[in-house]
Amino acid sequence: MIKLHDIDHVALGVEDLDASAHSWQVEFGLAERERTPTESFLACNYEPYSLVLRRTNNPGAIHTAYNLDPEFSLADAEKHLKDHGVLYTRSENAVEFLDPEGNGVHLVPYRPRDGANAFPVTSRRTDSLRQAGPRRLGHVNYLTADLPTMVDFYTTVVGQEVTDYLGDDAGVFLRIGGDHHVNAFVNTGTPHFHHVAFDLIDFGQIRSSFDHLAQHGRWFPWGPVRHGIGGNLAGYVRLPEAECFVELYCDMEQIDRTHLPRTFPDDRRSSNVWGMLPPRSYFRFDKETVDAERESLRSIWD
Ligand SMILES: [Fe+2]
Repeated sequence: MIKLHDIDHVALGVEDLDASAHSWQVEFGLAERERTPTESFLACNYEPYSLVLRRTNNPGAIHTAYNLDPEFSLADAEKHLKDHGVLYTRSENAVEFLDPEGNGVHLVPYRPRDGANAFPVTSRRTDSLRQAGPRRLGHVNYLTADLPTMVDFYTTVVGQEVTDYLGDDAGVFLRIGGDHHVNAFVNTGTPHFHHVAFDLIDFGQIRSSFDHLAQHGRWFPWGPVRHGIGGNLAGYVRLPEAECFVELYCDMEQIDRTHLPRTFPDDRRSSNVWGMLPPRSYFRFDKETVDAERESLRSIWD
């Protein structure tokens, strides 16, 4: 059985790499660590990078990478995938494969927390990090048409654990460590990468970030909300150029080793303790929906 340590990075494809790299630095507060003609590597904090932007004519999510537990090597990951009959490719620093719905998954080595990396970020010195960026990459979320198959794959092949269930078949939340979820699947009948989520300090930072993003023309189809399942305060920013959302959140429920998966009712409170379910546009990524949402051309209930 493979064991993971944490989420490492997410790779998104965008048509205009310059514009997107600029946006993630100025709007979301990430720092560009490296730039090539086709890729931008961006960090929230002292990690090498948490987000990769890749120039492509086919925008959208490319892959999510997870760090292996220090006891497992890339060779162990290869053997594990072979044992499960999963086709993969091996690059210099990753084992790469697709999940059953075609989402890219990478397994990468553990990053030792030694030297300066062993210390709290607030005790360190920097001349490159921006003010008020996210604390770290936290999780991803996918829409799925085959919830049981995806959950089976991510628990037996990728190495995640079920934290909680949403109804009998509405969604499943998965974890690696203490955070309530590092990944979640929502059963909407159509597979699509839904959001990449970044951890912020508190609700004050969410407020500052939303004010800042709004000044840059961004909008928030859902939120702020308090999720019943996961407990996090969150809001969702539309990212049309990568056909997904960015969730900014804080205060996620922390899970310990005695946790047993729970089943939350598939109702409004599990989704949003404070208020409403998301608008239908929250699950759509087509141009017509995005244009209508941008200009509020129609009721959210259309
Ligand atoms: Fe999320």
